[in-house]
Amino acid sequence: MSPLPHFFHTLIIGAGAAGMMAAARIGQRGFSVALLDHAVKIGEKIRISGGGRCNFTNRHLDGGDASPYYVSQQPRFVRHALSRFSAQDFVQLVEAHGIAYHEKHKGQLFCSGSAQEIIAMLQEECRKGGVSWHTGCRIDAVCALPEQADGARFEIRSSSGLFCCRNLITATGGLAVPAIGATAFGYELAKQFGHSIITPEAALVPLRFENWTESGLAALSGIALPVCIRTGSGKTAAAFDEDLLFRHKGLSGPAVLQISSYWQPGNSITVDFAPDTDLAAALCHGKSGQKIQLNTAIRQLCPHLPERLLDCWLAQPAFAPYAAHKWADVPNTLLQQLGRSLNEWTLLPSGSDGHKKAEATRGGVNVKEIHPKTMESRLRPGLYFIGEVMDITGWLGGYNFQWAWSSAVCAADAV
Ligand code: FDA
Repeated sequence: MSPLPHFFHTLIIGAGAAGMMAAARIGQRGFSVALLDHAVKIGEKIRISGGGRCNFTNRHLDGGDASPYYVSQQPRFVRHALSRFSAQDFVQLVEAHGIAYHEKHKGQLFCSGSAQEIIAMLQEECRKGGVSWHTGCRIDAVCALPEQADGARFEIRSSSGLFCCRNLITATGGLAVPAIGATAFGYELAKQFGHSIITPEAALVPLRFENWTESGLAALSGIALPVCIRTGSGKTAAAFDEDLLFRHKGLSGPAVLQISSYWQPGNSITVDFAPDTDLAAALCHGKSGQKIQLNTAIRQLCPHLPERLLDCWLAQPAFAPYAAHKWADVPNTLLQQLGRSLNEWTLLPSGSDGHKKAEATRGGVNVKEIHPKTMESRLRPGLYFIGEVMDITGWLGGYNFQWAWSSAVCAADAV
């Protein structure tokens, strides 16, 4: 005879940011709830986030439309959840636990100590809610049950035994960093119940370029500077004022991570090294009577550009013959070409560093098939999706964790 399943009002698969948040709230509402996770060590993404300090939310989310900060086929889907449980609500929880935090820039809130404090806070909230934990738990099968007397609607077979539950919450996250437990489980489960998946792709990820080393750009590795970066056009256009980082294998830094969430293969990206100056105009209009060399002129016009970058720029075959010429003697066509090359450096990425190095996944469970107020499936009553497994990808800067907290609270209050 097979053993009787453990019954829980709600089972949550995935004990990451969203899963723990939901479990704590459901338990504190007085319902039986269990977290199942295949990882032995939980909260690993929180631990490594924000360089170990966890950028847990962003103040810019409070007091306005949150949808511009999210990439999705339906960005307006986030509006209800983010006003239902706001960045300020999460900050209050952090403060209630006595966790010191600070704002870095652009509204980004980080722990002043360690990301471990956020994990401890969520664990403590789960303890208060009497949440059951099953870590190192392999999920073998999930099936829907016919209507039962005890209200059970799903059965879960796992290496920790047989479970059944009235509500099943999928909180298995995206595909970023498989080394710490990311899997496609949530997408497979969603498909099993008839959901469609927007193709998951690496987001918030460094970009790569063909012939990077041969073009001499690898020599700029380590240089970081503020730029304006763009991609796409019309409705799909995106632009960010952030820092760019040159690497041995391509480009990274916040500017590139942000634009990577919008970049589509085959499209180019454009970098403006001097967003406040029309360099072509400044070079042409300012040259009259100037005895200084062209390279000195460029340095004066763009004092924030690192020497190494300017040297490399002026060493390009088109500009090198003029670098030591008197500015006044350089033809306008060449000055325009030089100015435009710095204001509109256009590159064609060949790809990205992939899920291994990504901070998020764009795509996921199609939110058209999910209720925005409860996170419940429109196709299967009692089935919920929260956090990054959905087709919701936040900007860099605490937006992804806030989505995890807010979507978790909506589901927790609805089950
Ligand atoms: P999350 O990934 O947190 O949790 C999913 C859980 O499901 C994991 O515990 C996993 O083990 C489990 N799971 C997966 N497959 C399973 C299976 N088959 N069976 C059982 N369990 C399974 N965001 C932000 O806002 N600020 C920041 O500072 C950062 N920094 C950052 C750095 C790095 C390096 C990364 C990779 C990511 C970030 N992020 C971030 C993004 C943020 O970490 C992410 O969006 C949230 O953790 C998503 O929360 P979820 O709960 O949805 O998934």
